[in-house]
Amino acid sequence: MSDQTGIQAGQPSARQTNAMHEDAPEFAREVWNTRLGFVLAAVGSAVGLGNMWRFPYITSEYGGAAFVVLYILMTFVIGIPVLLAEFTIGRRARQSSVGALRAAGGRPWVPLGYLFVLTGMLILAFYSVIAGWVTRYALVALFTGFPEDTGAYFSSIASGIPAMGFHLFTMAVTIAIVMGGVEKGIERASFVMMPILFLVVVGLAVWAATLQGSGEGYAFYLTPRLEELFSARTIAAAAGQAFFSLSLGMGAMLTFASYLSKKENLPREATVIAFTDFGVAFTAGLVVFPVIFALGLQGAVGESTVGALFISLPGAFVSMGPVGRVVGALFFIALFIGAITSAISLLEVVVAALIDEWKFSRKPAAVGAGTIIALIGLWPAADTNALGFLDAVTNNIFLPLGSLFLAVLVGWLLKNPLEEVTRNTSERIRPLLIGWLWILRVVAPILLVFVLYTSLPIVADAFRALTGR
Ligand code: TRP
Repeated sequence: MSDQTGIQAGQPSARQTNAMHEDAPEFAREVWNTRLGFVLAAVGSAVGLGNMWRFPYITSEYGGAAFVVLYILMTFVIGIPVLLAEFTIGRRARQSSVGALRAAGGRPWVPLGYLFVLTGMLILAFYSVIAGWVTRYALVALFTGFPEDTGAYFSSIASGIPAMGFHLFTMAVTIAIVMGGVEKGIERASFVMMPILFLVVVGLAVWAATLQGSGEGYAFYLTPRLEELFSARTIAAAAGQAFFSLSLGMGAMLTFASYLSKKENLPREATVIAFTDFGVAFTAGLVVFPVIFALGLQGAVGESTVGALFISLPGAFVSMGPVGRVVGALFFIALFIGAITSAISLLEVVVAALIDEWKFSRKPAAVGAGTIIALIGLWPAADTNALGFLDAVTNNIFLPLGSLFLAVLVGWLLKNPLEEVTRNTSERIRPLLIGWLWILRVVAPILLVFVLYTSLPIVADAFRALTGR
């Protein structure tokens, strides 16, 4: 068991010692070594393909700035509350999603915990295929540069054997990090990689501002037209994007919070994480839109969703010559970091459940679960329609459903829901926390039912694309 805890082995840090005294657990569960380590890992989970790839293309699909406004609203008004609900359940029980839901709501909630595990597996199966494309693009940008016809290039690598190879590679990296444990694997990887991502994204945004013709890109991205704020589809899409980007609805944040000491102030951490996640998505937009508009590629982005950034953006990089080489490599390296740190959190949901519920030790759990997910992922790697289908089902059904249950559990069923979130918070924010409860009780459920209802046609479309050939 020593490889599982990292506490019995080696010198315990001051914080770990405290954590052990505080709760005197029967067996020592892993904990984060530092507060910053936890924040970076959670931000690592949140920041990923959702921010740098999905956010720009969804924004352009829904007409630009109005979508951005709605996305901000959803992140701060509903996203933070649901994030805080996951934190509450996870740290309260200090168990994986299965055990934590059991502790919060009793036996009837156990199946939801397993649904979370299944959702994590399905998301990771296709997420890792996209991350595989990213890995390949980072290497190509770095070593050979993109070919002229990026559309044809993307089609040639997006599915089949090439996609499978890079998907398996991504899974191998993910498994290796998760095997290292909470502190020595996940925390350390996030600590090293996330600052690089921040620097690169900010640097690219500054560079993009120097492009001639970037102004139109900013105008599209930042000038909202009011009438578009009231479209049901746009509202539902903005909510879906906010939840996906914050990694909500399947216990990833819950699991990470289960390794958190009772000293940490949950509302503060939730706010910091949501702001950073939003900040990276917003800054990615400040890179993508000026580049796309400066090169007159705006039509291409809205047209093909899945391929947008894998076709138009590299196309833009090609036409910039040597500068494009450097910038392209940096962009895809940042995207790779985002993807890997998110993949870690998806795998950890499964691994934590295997450790806590089935008494596996960490290494076999990571290898076993990772291998099964890698095998499932061969399907979306072979068939882009399967990828679209898995994406649609998880994002439009499983995640909103998971968030809905979490909101109801914490808002209505949990005894003394304020106890966990008021630890170490100041009295002054108490009214805000009462507001938080009412958002979970009323606003979030209504919105989530609406999201589920509105996005059913999306799932139906994806299903048709999958079977109708
Ligand atoms: N939030 C990540 C992104 O934006 C993806 C992700 C990681 C995720 N873990 C998750 C999404 C859990 C939903 C649930 O790329």
